[in-house]
Amino acid sequence: MAALRNGQLVAFPTETVYGLGADATNADAVRKIFEVKGRPDNHPLIVHLSEAGELTRWASAVPKAAWQLAEAFWPGPLTLVLPKSVRVPDVTTGGLSSVGLRVPAHPVALELLRRFGGPVAAPSANRFGRVSPTQAEHVATDLGADVEVVLDGGACRVGLESTIVDLTSGAPVLLRPGGITTARIEEVPGVAVSRQPASETRAPGMLQSHYAPRARVEVVEPSDIARRAHALVAQGKSVALLLLTPIADGGDLSSFPDGALLLDVGKDAREAAQQFYAALRRADAANADVILASPPALQGLGEALADRLRKASGTRTSTPTPT
Ligand code: TXA
Ligand code: MG
Repeated sequence: MAALRNGQLVAFPTETVYGLGADATNADAVRKIFEVKGRPDNHPLIVHLSEAGELTRWASAVPKAAWQLAEAFWPGPLTLVLPKSVRVPDVTTGGLSSVGLRVPAHPVALELLRRFGGPVAAPSANRFGRVSPTQAEHVATDLGADVEVVLDGGACRVGLESTIVDLTSGAPVLLRPGGITTARIEEVPGVAVSRQPASETRAPGMLQSHYAPRARVEVVEPSDIARRAHALVAQGKSVALLLLTPIADGGDLSSFPDGALLLDVGKDAREAAQQFYAALRRADAANADVILASPPALQGLGEALADRLRKASGTRTSTPTPT
């Protein structure tokens, strides 16, 4: 791929979200990613590889658990954090001595990686802190002329970012829930995953307000959502509804105010994950003031979905959610 070799940026589809890619070994090219995204330079990038066999080239140590997880889930939505090899420039890892590595499960991404023949550093292809892109047109809308090439691979199949597991300290630590459920990871023999304390923010995806639309996101229990929608409409607000809980739990649709925008995200957690970011963008496109969301059940992709919903609402949740 000539653009990558020339130090230019290439946006490309993965199974999770679109990435904004650069040659991971070219410090100047990687700096462009930080500039275009408006991302603080101490936030590490994920480095994409074409196959697990490349692990030994880009990580300085690969524990058994890493090989087992790579074998089980690559290509796929799992990022492994390992001690970095000296071949990875510091700018790529935001100055950290570890590197996040993953092999994406998308034919266009794999073709790009194989043709380029090297590692591609790529964060999600959106401006820092905003909603991740799951379609090529989202990238064009967000980044416009700042990116030289946008490869169109259609809508992303998973729709939420990869699960990040840190293997630098012996026992695997979950840094970000994502496209592979924690339960599936723990099915791998001998791999038990602990969760990082919420107070630590090593992964910027863990910042309070992140993945955020312009509209304010309020997470409301299903039993309160219709009442809250009416109250907001009475205040002259434009309201969008994101029902991540089956509608049966939330009363019937006729209980919602006329004119509220219903953001349909399908029938289960998998479909909701796939359509989540596009739904937030639809609310913004419709100039909604507030997105009222019901929290998803935590099975399957529900854990990752709940995490992104919490981040989209940031500290701005005005209605406390009963536990
Ligand atoms: O699904 C994905 O992971 C997508 C696609 C494009 O692959 N990429 C993505 O990248 O979500 P980004 O930059 O938006 O988020 C990368 C996350 C950040 O939270 C970052 O802190 C974490 O990965 N990360 C990367 N390297 C790390 C490291 N060495 N230690 C800890 N966290 C790391
Ligand atoms: Mg991102």
